Amino acid sequence: MIDGRMQEALNKHANAEFYSSYLYLSMSAYFQSLNLTGFAHWMRVQAREELAHAMKFYDHVIERGGKVALPPVEAPPSQWESPLAAFEDAYRHEQKVTGLINQLVDEAVQTRDHATNAFLQWFVSEQVEEEASVDAIVQKLKLVGDAPGGLLMIDHELAERASG
Ligand SMILES: [Fe+2]
Ligand SMILES: [Fe+2]
Repeated sequence: MIDGRMQEALNKHANAEFYSSYLYLSMSAYFQSLNLTGFAHWMRVQAREELAHAMKFYDHVIERGGKVALPPVEAPPSQWESPLAAFEDAYRHEQKVTGLINQLVDEAVQTRDHATNAFLQWFVSEQVEEEASVDAIVQKLKLVGDAPGGLLMIDHELAERASG
């Protein structure tokens, strides 16, 4: 049986992953509105990945005999100043999520919940990847600046992302 405080923290984090999914879906719609279909595709795949992350937490709580809680998911922004601003937001968001995952690991260690600690290790590695992939796109967007040709080149590249 899972510790009550740990259960609450895991449910809270599932909500943060649902929010991530919502945020990236909103970014996908924003890119679609700019006719940047490659960017929109990349964000749509990302939104689906975040939904899968949320479901991992959901499943873990159930597997441990806990009780799932599904509070409302906050509404994400719907507009950004530029593609770069959106990706910078995504990068900041991933850094925040990394911090939350690290806090969960601390809590798992403190409550001696080794199963949850093992479960969380996948997310520790995943966050390294997530931050790196978003930052790589931020850096490319900075490189091309306002050149439309460069933006379209990145759009083509992001269109290639596997649907997962
Ligand atoms: Fe995630
Ligand atoms: Fe993420």
